[in-house]
Formats: sequence, C-alpha cells, structure tokens
Amino acid sequence: MKLHTSLLLTTLLLDTTLAQKWPNPEPCTGECRIHDPALARSENGTYYLFGSAPGVTVKTAPSLNGPWSEPKKVFNTEDQLGAPDIMHVNGKWWLYYQRTKISTQESNISVASSPSLSSPFVDHGLLDIPPGNEQRDYNRIDANLFYDSNGRDLYLNFGSFWDDIFQLRLSDPKTVISDSFSHLEKNKTEPGFPGESSTGANPSEGAFEFKWNGKYYLFWSSGNCCHTTKTVPLGDEYKIMVCRSDKATGPFVDKAGKNCVSENGGTMILGTHDNVYAPGGQGVRYDDELKSVILYYHWLRFDNQEEPATFGWNYLGWDGEGWPFVTEKGDGTKDKGKGEKKV
Ligand SMILES: *[C@@H]1O[C@H](CO)[C@@H](O)[C@H](O)[C@H]1NC(C)=O
Ligand SMILES: *[C@@H]1O[C@H](CO)[C@@H](O)[C@H](O)[C@H]1NC(C)=O
Ligand SMILES: *[C@@H]1O[C@H](CO)[C@@H](O)[C@H](O)[C@H]1NC(C)=O
Repeated sequence: MKLHTSLLLTTLLLDTTLAQKWPNPEPCTGECRIHDPALARSENGTYYLFGSAPGVTVKTAPSLNGPWSEPKKVFNTEDQLGAPDIMHVNGKWWLYYQRTKISTQESNISVASSPSLSSPFVDHGLLDIPPGNEQRDYNRIDANLFYDSNGRDLYLNFGSFWDDIFQLRLSDPKTVISDSFSHLEKNKTEPGFPGESSTGANPSEGAFEFKWNGKYYLFWSSGNCCHTTKTVPLGDEYKIMVCRSDKATGPFVDKAGKNCVSENGGTMILGTHDNVYAPGGQGVRYDDELKSVILYYHWLRFDNQEEPATFGWNYLGWDGEGWPFVTEKGDGTKDKGKGEKKV
C-alpha cells in the first residue's frame, strides 16, 4: 500500500449517515500489530500471518484469535517490503511482495516460494510485469495470486491508484503472460484526496479475488490507508469494497449492478465504525476450522489513530443474492464453493 506524505489541512466532517452496524473484530491476543495481513494455514493447523515490514514479517498462532507470536523476518534485509500475498499452488507456497517508492509509479513485484510455511522462502526475484503506461496507467503494487479451478488458470491481480486494479494471466506462479491484461476496477472520482492529484487520483488498491459458489468476488481497499482524521476527511479513509463477476477476468459489477471499471461500481462491506478506523489491506478465506468464510484485515483505533494497525477478522455471511456481508457469527454456510483451494 502506499503511504501519502503530504500534509493536508481539511475540515473534519462528521457524517452520521455513515454509521453502520458492523460487529467489532473478533478478539486477538499476542502480538496483533500488523499492516497488510496475508493469512495461511499449514497442514498441522498452525496459522501463519505475513505483513508489510523490512524483510516481510511472519508470525504464527494456534488459532485465528492468537496468541500470535513475535514476528520473524522472512528475508534477511532491511529493505521495506510490502503487501505480501501467500497462496498454495502446484505443491508449493508462493509469497508475493513489493518494493515501492511512495507517490511514484516506480514499484515492482517479486515472488518467493517454499515447500512448507515453516521452511525458508527461496526468492525468485521480479515478475516481468511491464511498467504502467498511458494506455494502462497502473502502479505495480499489491499482488494477489488467484487460482481458478474452472479452467485451471492462474491470475495475478495487482494495483494501484492511477487507473487502479489490473490483472494478468500467469503460465506458472513465476511467469506472467504479457499482454493478457484485464482491467478489473477503476474509481473515476478525481482527485482522490485534496492536494494529492499528482500521485494518481484514484485510491483503489489491495485487490483480493475469491471464488464462492461459482461466482468471482473482487475485494479491494478504497480510500486512504495511512492518515488520520486530522488530515483525511472522515469517509475518505480505507474501507473494504466488493464487486462480483461470472468470470475470473470480469467484468465485475457491484450490488446495484454498476460496472466496476466504467461506472464507479463498488459495494462497501466494512468501513470505520465504533472504535475501528480505516479497515483495509484485507483478504478472504474459507476457514476449515471455523467452517465459514472469513474476512481479515488491519484496522486502526479511532481513539488513537497513530498507533500501529491491528489484525482483525470477522465472519462473512452470504445474502440470498449471493453478496457477502460482515456478520457476528458463521451463518452456517456450508462448504459450497471452497474459495481458497490448495492445488
Ligand atoms: C524496485 O522498486 C524499488 C522501489 O521503487 C526500486 O528502488 C528498485 O530499483 C526497483 N528494482 C528494479 C529492479 O526495478
Ligand atoms: C506445526 O508446525 C510448525 C512448523 O513446523 C511448528 O512450529 C508448530 O509447533 C506445529 N504445530 C502443531 C500444533 O503441531
Ligand atoms: C471512489 O472514490 C471516492 C473518493 O475517494 C469515494 O468516495 C468512493 O467511495 C470511491 N468508490 C469506490 C467504489 O471505491
């Protein structure tokens, strides 16, 4: 995700119509601080949580509620590596991560792999994604690997700000098929934030694609990840959006039927509420322990927005039309779709 360094002076507008009844994050114990969580579960039931940090960090816990261990570095470097994504494909774990220069399009995505979550990751270096251009104006950040069991295709979702979220097909987890682009999402609101038009106008990033019950869901984070209500008007901070498609490549539409590239489509499923500020950096998984789909993310405390972000998760229920919503408990939805497949 990108941090914005400009200092903004804006009026804090409290909009009570934004108030929503979302449940609080489920309890978390141990070392819960994290930014851009990426979650996986090993064969023996241990949860692994990767996060943005120098070298990318990983911590473990016996349950989703913790207790989370102290973080360890995945790569022995002081380089700031961000927005990890972890997925099991072709008998290995694949870890994607980025290097990014704030407020520029000079970013890149690398991949590493390991036969097991507890063994060292071997770095394979940069993915060969062409840099953004006028035609496809993106920033190479926030990778998300998606395996479509239907057709056995692999996709890399990424981006972005500028023209937001794009997708490339892969021939294997290390190799993108150049010119297999799909444009998944674009927020056409300009500019994104006061004073920030120079960094690309459209605050959409952190894509995460998930298949459930035969449909494809694109989750992403909209808004500003990393400021506070001192500088970002309430409502413009991070929030979690969803769109849906019949195909992995789109077109995606929101709950109101609006196209998510051409019509600013996007349905908010979680935003600021109670003491939760700016939830985002999310992922979704079918959790075989809880027998439910869950949404996980990082969030800040409304009453102390400068504290590091915390790991949070909630159950996702599915309404009669097949749209996900954040809910108190698993709604008993059975394993219809197996969104995350180990392949
Ligand atoms: C990857 O991105 C970082 C951050 O912008 C940059 O410093 C580095 O030179 C890039 N690496 C390559 C090989 O482009
Ligand atoms: C699972 O495996 C990891 C890595 O080998 C180990 O640290 C952990 O203690 C194991 N957990 C259980 C419940 O066996
Ligand atoms: C698009 O951006 C505007 C301005 O930041 C925001 O109010 C709106 O919620 C965003 N829409 C989507 C679908 O993300």
